[in-house]
Amino acid sequence: MTATLAPFPPARGLRAAALDALAASLRAGLSAAAVVRRDEPLSKRTTLRVGGPADVYVEPESEADLAFTLRAARAADEPVFLLGRGSNLLVRDGGLRAVVVSLARPAFAAVRVEAPRLHAGAGARLKHLAVEARRAGLAGLEFFEGIPGSLGGALRMNAGAMGRWTFDVVESLRFMDAEGGVHERLAAEVRAEYRACPLLRDHVALSAVLRGEPALPAEIAARMAQYSAKRWESQPPQPSAGCIFKNPAAAPAGKLVDELGLKGTRHGGAAVSTVHGNFIVNDGGAAAADVLRLIETVRARVLAERGIRLETEVEIVGEEVPSRA
Ligand code: EPU
Repeated sequence: MTATLAPFPPARGLRAAALDALAASLRAGLSAAAVVRRDEPLSKRTTLRVGGPADVYVEPESEADLAFTLRAARAADEPVFLLGRGSNLLVRDGGLRAVVVSLARPAFAAVRVEAPRLHAGAGARLKHLAVEARRAGLAGLEFFEGIPGSLGGALRMNAGAMGRWTFDVVESLRFMDAEGGVHERLAAEVRAEYRACPLLRDHVALSAVLRGEPALPAEIAARMAQYSAKRWESQPPQPSAGCIFKNPAAAPAGKLVDELGLKGTRHGGAAVSTVHGNFIVNDGGAAAADVLRLIETVRARVLAERGIRLETEVEIVGEEVPSRA
């Protein structure tokens, strides 16, 4: 007797079933208030407003939920991607084949002041930290005022503005490993460089203790107002991902782009800002592919005419839309 083999299901079907099963086990294992979704559009969760969907999207309600999610993803052999406020992120149009985790629930956003320290959750908004520090008369955190991110994202990329970096004000850090284990380390023991904290590439920041310097709230408020004014006059108001390129040693990337007359260059709905050369703005209808093409156009011109290789600062993730060829 010859066995008849059933037609082999398409790979996408198998993967979709595995992801459905993973989402179902997350729904069963996490707190009732946690969010678990399949095929969640990421364009609405990034400040650039482009990008395809996340295979599975999770907002854990607690650290126990987060540990469960990390373990479940690991058991299912699915990568995990931590999404902050999506302000330094470019997701390709085909979306992210991963379990995307956002610490957006209130349990991760608590901020407690014990002068001269602030204890803050990774989900806390940087603007909120700047305001709390000002209220408590703690100077040094004013530069957080205009960075549209969360503390977790700022730690992961050692975000900076106005000549200050996140790790300048971090005293200690709590984080979770891929098995759900929680660790704490002094900032002095953690390597932090220009726009990177390598430890947080494969660990999840949970919270940090930040340290300010006692000062008069009026002085702090004046500095914040000055930073805000500088930002409004030098950076564009349209949707963007902040600075696209790291500043090379030779000159600020925005200055190079400006000097080459590239401001206003566009592909589809994406344009090099006319206000600041290191910003690409979405005029409304941009796709990630437009932004990526524009990045390549700018890099090619800067390399050809100035001999400088620009490196992207924005994190680029996800897949192209599969071609139908
Ligand atoms: N410049 C130009 N033309 C431009 C843009 C800038 O000539 O179109 C000149 C400015 O006049 C200035 C110099 O380039 O002399 C530097 O510009 P700016 O002060 O705007 O700072 P930046 O180096 O472009 C950095 C951070 C920003 C941060 C600002 C303000 C990087 C890649 N960028 O920008 O961070 O907000 O300082 O402190 O380090 C981000 O990380 O996403 C970001 C926006």
